[in-house]
Amino acid sequence: MLHSDAGELREALINLVFNAVDAMPQGGTITFVTRSLHGPVSEVSGASERQLQVEVKDNGIGMDEKTRQHCLEPFFSTKAQRGGTGLGLAMVYGMIQRHDGIIEIDSAPGRGTCVRLIFPVQENPPQTVRGTSPQVKPKRSLHILCIDDDAQVRQLLDDCLTHFNHRVMVASGGEHGMELFRTAMLKNQPYEVVITDWGMPDVNGYEVARTIKAESPNTPVIMMTGWGTIMKEEGETASEVDAVIGKPPRMNELNDLLLRITASDKRHA
Ligand SMILES: Nc1ncnc2c1ncn2[C@@H]1O[C@H](COP(=O)(O)OP(=O)(O)OP(=O)(O)O)[C@@H](O)[C@H]1O
Ligand SMILES: [Mg+2]
Repeated sequence: MLHSDAGELREALINLVFNAVDAMPQGGTITFVTRSLHGPVSEVSGASERQLQVEVKDNGIGMDEKTRQHCLEPFFSTKAQRGGTGLGLAMVYGMIQRHDGIIEIDSAPGRGTCVRLIFPVQENPPQTVRGTSPQVKPKRSLHILCIDDDAQVRQLLDDCLTHFNHRVMVASGGEHGMELFRTAMLKNQPYEVVITDWGMPDVNGYEVARTIKAESPNTPVIMMTGWGTIMKEEGETASEVDAVIGKPPRMNELNDLLLRITASDKRHA
């Protein structure tokens, strides 16, 4: 049996089907295959492992090698002119990572594409080893404010964090973010954590963090930045910012960080 969030799996399959349809402008065939296989014996647990494979296959235009190598990256799209965001496969990849699975992509130009999702299935899960697998973790839902001037990043954060069962509000800049933050405080529904971009045209991430800490010292602030060194150079340290993550963030890591950072928050202790 595969322990999985049905909604997440459905969303992933929908993304694969949309890609297959896009790849067959003249029509074609989409094939779904599921199979259950004997996998390797786990060295850690010694338990027998099976694999569940799900394939979505098309006979469309296929991908060249460069596209195949980059297609899982967030924002990589060869369909930007047609409204492609490049987030479809990034979300599929996030989903498979959360299931400790792997994704394989066979594709060649003119020959079509086969995307294979491989899920590990443990038949005798020893409690000590598998007891905390992501699928059985109780989901803690956080009220999160995400501030970024880039609409695609806002969409990515909103989509992915909602997947993790959080309640997400997005703001398009520092000022907008502070406005939402204050309104939520006044309504007595404060955000439990704030994620902010560093470089924004109106009010930058530091100013956002400083203001939030001045008004609500216990609210954790996570800074997203493409330049990890800037923190040190500017002498800005943990007093305003509780954690720094690279951009774009890896969603399962961000989720772990969110759960950790709010668990150590004194208000929740
Ligand atoms: N079945 C497929 N056949 C050919 N190319 C594909 C296929 N699936 C994905 N690709 C390639 O991988 C890229 C990234 O796919 P992804 O689903 O992440 O984004 P997108 O489809 O471009 O945009 P979005 O899914 O956000 O609308 C696509 O732009 C396309 O070049
Ligand atoms: Mg897509």
